[in-house]
Amino acid sequence: MQFLENFTPELTIESPGRINIIGEHTDYNLGYVLPTAISKKITLEFSKNDSDTECNVYTKGYDKGITIDLNKLEISSEEWENYILGVLNEISKRSDKLKGFNCTIESNLPVGSGVSSSAALECGLAFGLNELFDLGLSKLDIVELSRDAEHTFVGTKCGIMDQYASVMSKEGHVILLDCDTLEHKYIPIDVKPYKVLLLNTNVAHSLATSQYNVRREECETAVAIIAKKYPEVKSLRNATIEMIEDTKAEMSDKVYDRCTYVVAENNRVHAAIAALKANDLKKLGELLYETHDGLSRLYEVSCPELDFLVEFSKGNDQVLGARLMGGGFGGCTINIVHQDAVDAYVKEASEAYEKKFNIKLTSFEALPSQGTSIKL
Ligand code: GLA
Repeated sequence: MQFLENFTPELTIESPGRINIIGEHTDYNLGYVLPTAISKKITLEFSKNDSDTECNVYTKGYDKGITIDLNKLEISSEEWENYILGVLNEISKRSDKLKGFNCTIESNLPVGSGVSSSAALECGLAFGLNELFDLGLSKLDIVELSRDAEHTFVGTKCGIMDQYASVMSKEGHVILLDCDTLEHKYIPIDVKPYKVLLLNTNVAHSLATSQYNVRREECETAVAIIAKKYPEVKSLRNATIEMIEDTKAEMSDKVYDRCTYVVAENNRVHAAIAALKANDLKKLGELLYETHDGLSRLYEVSCPELDFLVEFSKGNDQVLGARLMGGGFGGCTINIVHQDAVDAYVKEASEAYEKKFNIKLTSFEALPSQGTSIKL
């Protein structure tokens, strides 16, 4: 792209990916999640370009660029462009101060791996443009508009966890987020002598988006059934196992499985916080295994590659717990592994995984890090 020839950035933003300790598929059910940003991130460089409407965005990793006219924000057939277009569209709804700019994007976050490279991109772009044009958006505005961009332009009806974690996280902490009130608490996380290890299956099954949206609908169906008898139930967050049992006759087996998973998972978030506070990592690990079991059998968002890695980890007593992380259908498992055993475990798991699937495993340690910020 032409602007690259003499690009002098005025502003650099770093926007991280995230992990989630526990609380999976609870966010859009208005329950609880326990995510935090990680040290892997997307770096965005910005400058104004004196045009009223022309925006140029270049992504270094893919060597691809897009020129956008702010007066013609339409959904593109290129998926990555929709993250950009969607954010510009949402900003335009909230402010008339956005003008032409140039931007480059560089990332060390694996794409399609359940660590939310998409939220990092959306939030980094929104955060940067807010600074560049003094749009007056709050951090929560940035979170919400980034989530809305994903709904309207990308087509995933995601919850708020990823964007919230990307923007709001604090180094050395996890965020306990109440997805109903959007109130949060920072909880210090120190798992020494263990480490939070991510194993990347390096597969991203195409079901991810379509099945994600189906799960959301199945949960809404469950709420509608429960609410007929218990009108106080507005989301699965307020439902109990007893209410589900009481209305089970009206539900399909699938809907029953989905909502029992969500209610149990919400309870596990609280159990996990108690375990963290008591430094009971063994308990935390057990909860991770329970979550995986639920995600795989009841919520049905796992895949053979993820199930294999979680099963494999059970054979190693240096691993306290493991589960698939994020939306599912591929991406990473999150594992709690003793620091002295990490290298050997990664080697063994990689060999077994490659033998079984003929795919290379990659791994990295997740370090709880600060959210989207200006690089000084
Ligand atoms: C994806 C979505 C999140 C959340 C997780 C599952 O990452 O973007 O909103 O629903 O899946 O917990």
